[in-house]
Amino acid sequence: MKRYYNFSLFVLLVATLFFASCQYDFEVKPAPEPPPVPGDTLSFSAEIIPIFTAKCVACHGGSQAPDLRADNAYNSIQTLVNLAIPADSEIYTWPNPTNTAKHAWKKYSDTEAAKVLFWIEQGALNN
Ligand code: HEC
Repeated sequence: MKRYYNFSLFVLLVATLFFASCQYDFEVKPAPEPPPVPGDTLSFSAEIIPIFTAKCVACHGGSQAPDLRADNAYNSIQTLVNLAIPADSEIYTWPNPTNTAKHAWKKYSDTEAAKVLFWIEQGALNN
């Protein structure tokens, strides 16, 4: 019985040393971008303008309506926003990835489309 007890202690000691000597390198992954949450606010200047700048101003830089340059975009898209039925807003539907009939040359990503819709649902503020 004593032998057995000693052996158990020995196993416990070895196990403790073994685990104490382990190093854990946790991989820190960047958090995925969370979907818009109702109640959150989404800033036009911080979230929507960068989409226009990156994907749209190459064509919508003044001569092609709507003018989506940072200083003009908000005013330009007033007629393309439908506050009563946000999902019918043309600034949302034209470049929507699900819209295969129109504007085939450039689409939002799904995330971008979701942001645009969410921004309109929040009242399409110049925030
Ligand atoms: C390769 C050039 C090009 C790019 C890039 C582009 N567009 Fe367009 N877009 C056009 C053209 C050309 C028209 C006009 C099409 C027509 O009238 O049939 C248009 C029309 C539109 C319309 C309809 C305008 C209206 O008055 O009815 C909207 C809204 C629009 N684009 C939004 C966008 C957005 C948002 C982006 C960026 C995600 C974008 N476009 C990127 C070329 C482009």
